[in-house]
Amino acid sequence: MKTILISLAFSFVGGWLAQSAPVSITLPVEVAALRNAPGAELAAMHCMTCHSAEYINSQPSLTRTAWKASVEKMRGKFAAPIPEDQVEKLADYLAAIYGMPEPVK
Ligand code: HEC
Repeated sequence: MKTILISLAFSFVGGWLAQSAPVSITLPVEVAALRNAPGAELAAMHCMTCHSAEYINSQPSLTRTAWKASVEKMRGKFAAPIPEDQVEKLADYLAAIYGMPEPVK
């Protein structure tokens, strides 16, 4: 009961603070761009809703398999609204520009 009262008090104060002090943020200006190649616009559309171009540019090189898994992870785990039929195209672009060869088996 005590816990419920305390958490109710906290959520009341929290709600009051949230109402009385609107938070305003200024996002940093995007200075980087995705490297240009076929598919760059697609990646800008589907990746830069959440990431900066700098974030993508600073990723280590990955194989196509790993890039495809990364795109799948963004869709599955992080609910990125990437249509399924765009996954291969995105993997092609990412592997071409930010890629490395698949290991020889
Ligand atoms: C809905 C938001 C969202 C979208 C859209 C999105 N991501 Fe992510 N991504 C995340 C989150 C959340 C993380 C995990 C936290 C972090 O490292 O920033 C992440 C992490 C990553 C990582 C770090 C490694 C990892 O797996 O955690 C890479 C690389 C990445 N994203 C690439 C991409 C690419 C490429 C696209 C476009 C195909 C994309 N993301 C689209 C949300 C998103």
